[in-house]
Amino acid sequence: MILAPSILASDYARLADQVAAAARGGAALVHVDVMDGHFVPNITLGPPVVASLHKATPLPLDVHLMIENADRYLPAFVDAGAAWVSVHQEAVPHLQRQVAFLRERGVRAGVALNPATPLGTLDEILPELDYVLVMSVNPGFGGQKFIPATLEKIRRLHATIRERGLKAQIEVDGGVDESNIRALVEAGAEVLVAGSAVFGHGDPEGAARRLIEAAR
Ligand code: DX5
Ligand code: ZN
Repeated sequence: MILAPSILASDYARLADQVAAAARGGAALVHVDVMDGHFVPNITLGPPVVASLHKATPLPLDVHLMIENADRYLPAFVDAGAAWVSVHQEAVPHLQRQVAFLRERGVRAGVALNPATPLGTLDEILPELDYVLVMSVNPGFGGQKFIPATLEKIRRLHATIRERGLKAQIEVDGGVDESNIRALVEAGAEVLVAGSAVFGHGDPEGAARRLIEAAR
């Protein structure tokens, strides 16, 4: 499993230190939440912060775009150093074009699904995806409660990927903590995003280590 701390819950003024601490605890990917105040009711950051963070950490950056008109901004996030990029199925009408663009640029391409969006919306695009980001909360804010029905959704997606012989990995995002991380891995999630569980208590290194331990 890969633990991907979400910097949404970090202290942005001490971003490099916080990410370095999480890395010492075993985090292997950094989850960067980009919100535009339109697709979701919150605003976070854009390509300049991604570029600075890319210089400040050796870990790959996983950019989760919760934005409208993603096609307009994808090149800037790729140029800023994103290694993984996900766009939302609900926000992007020409998914295949955006996914193809990312893969041509050598970026791992993902599609994110809100809790109420059926897996079937990915039937056609699934073979082209490096990962599916299954949202286990409604996007927009950190610190929300995990929606339990996500476990069954991940199990079904995992079965579909296996039956069709595809390579897509499953990432889960929202309300992940020590109490549910093991069940998520057993259901088929390989990339576990955690914001408040890593950065919410003042010791990102210890928190990351405990999450990885709990996942075993
Ligand atoms: C929610 C974001 C998540 C969020 C997770 O819109 O996509 O990545 O930071 O935070 P926690 O782990 O606190 O639910
Ligand atoms: Zn996210």
